[in-house]
Amino acid sequence: MSEEEGDGVDRSSTSSQRRSRADEGDEFDERDGDRDFERVVTEIRDRVDPDEDERTRLREVAERLMDRAETVARELCSDADVLQVGSTARDTWISGDRDIDIFVRFPPALDRETLEEYGLEVGHATLPEGHEEYAEHPYVKGEIEGFDIDIVPCFRLESATEIRSAVDRTPFHTQYLKQRLDDDLTEEVRVTKQFLKGIGVYGSDLRTRGFSGYLTELLVCEYGGFRPLLEAAADWRPPVEIDPEDHAHGHKSAEASRDTAVGDADLPFDDPLIVIDPTDPERNVAAVCSRANVARFQHYARELLESPRVDPFEPDEPEPLTESELRAHLERRATTPVAVRFEAPDLVEDQLYPQLQKSLEGITQGLDDRGFDVFRATAIAGETAVVFAELAVSERPAVERHEGPPVHVRDHANGFYDAYADDPDAYGPFIEGDRYVTERDREFTSAREFLESDRLFDVGLGAHVETTLEDGYEVLVDDEVTVLLEEFGRELGDYFAPRP
Ligand code: UTP
Ligand code: MN
Repeated sequence: MSEEEGDGVDRSSTSSQRRSRADEGDEFDERDGDRDFERVVTEIRDRVDPDEDERTRLREVAERLMDRAETVARELCSDADVLQVGSTARDTWISGDRDIDIFVRFPPALDRETLEEYGLEVGHATLPEGHEEYAEHPYVKGEIEGFDIDIVPCFRLESATEIRSAVDRTPFHTQYLKQRLDDDLTEEVRVTKQFLKGIGVYGSDLRTRGFSGYLTELLVCEYGGFRPLLEAAADWRPPVEIDPEDHAHGHKSAEASRDTAVGDADLPFDDPLIVIDPTDPERNVAAVCSRANVARFQHYARELLESPRVDPFEPDEPEPLTESELRAHLERRATTPVAVRFEAPDLVEDQLYPQLQKSLEGITQGLDDRGFDVFRATAIAGETAVVFAELAVSERPAVERHEGPPVHVRDHANGFYDAYADDPDAYGPFIEGDRYVTERDREFTSAREFLESDRLFDVGLGAHVETTLEDGYEVLVDDEVTVLLEEFGRELGDYFAPRP
């Protein structure tokens, strides 16, 4: 990466300091703005800092469960230990958030199967009402006194680079951040998390594809607080690379880029935001963070610095769209809405959303390829799942053009000509420019025909979406989409009032 394309961060002075020095006339405005910003942050801080009472309750529950887990784990394996990880171990959790992450560590000599077996046994003994979930290995999740508890088994390793599964890294994260965070930074982390939640980009799950808790903490440490992070982000020019422990230093032979769009850039990752994991140089902590969410963060960072307000910190639920509002939008836009609706496959969100995304892209491509131009589209899931698309073109004539090779490419051109010369259903071949062209019957003259046909299964669909569609699905066109309001009024409200 060249100096110029760096992370865009000038660590010597903040942009507001630079501005006020450069332009004395604006000094008062600037100070007012700073004061407003501080007032907003103070208000949010009061809201997100857990009070003594809440902390005590959480601590009591965590300690009780860890004792219980440790007793059971030691019985199974004398070498096991138990530790608290995640935000509640680092004091970076937000008031009202209630997840306690407890890890049970086993020696690496144990084989994976036994680790899983022991892990579940400890989990069930600690959380008798709990149920099993599956991440990289199975673990037990349960609720105690309003807290969501995860009991996760992992291997105790010397270094995070030896990990066998992603969870083995987690204890190293906790260890690293505990060294770097002081009380001030911890408060700044909580405010930052609330901001990211408010603007809808917090969470590394595959539905959100945003900023994980760990990533948020690393960013706040790197820039030294909420405001300096916003000021830096406001000027980011992705790809932004942050390397807190300077791992890349001396490792100048970065791997080839994985994405041709990045060209020959000397970057090991092609993600818009690259934060090299301080505990594992091979990993980008921000790998799931989408381009859109990085852009969204930049937008709202600029907005908050420009006019500090508390609203962006609160996620707002859109009002469900009413039928008359939906009809008004459709009439005004004069697009053709179409929807493919099916029963939502019974999958965890981290599997469901990537499959829906893939199906959305496949169906959009399938429509575009057949001349039904997609204007905008989205996928929504609840009890049922829907691929919803607005078409700029929904009807096509009965014939379509089919271009052949240039006549001078003798063999190909002959092949084309012979194939169509005797076709009674085709017009031509004739010549346009230097090419043979025919006009033949179009397979589908309306988007509905295509969506209802078996050819829908030719497009790229998520595996489980495909099997669900095989069991049947519904195609809705024009006014028929109003039936979606009952289940998806809010989502359609969002769709027709798009925001950054
Ligand atoms: P959590 O998702 O509970 O995050 O994962 P968190 O840091 O505790 O933040 P909040 O406050 O609950 O939202 C617990 C730990 O698991 C690891 C991190 O070390 C994190 O602190 N983890 C989680 C990852 O490494 N990657 C992930 O995608 C998720
Ligand atoms: Mn957590």
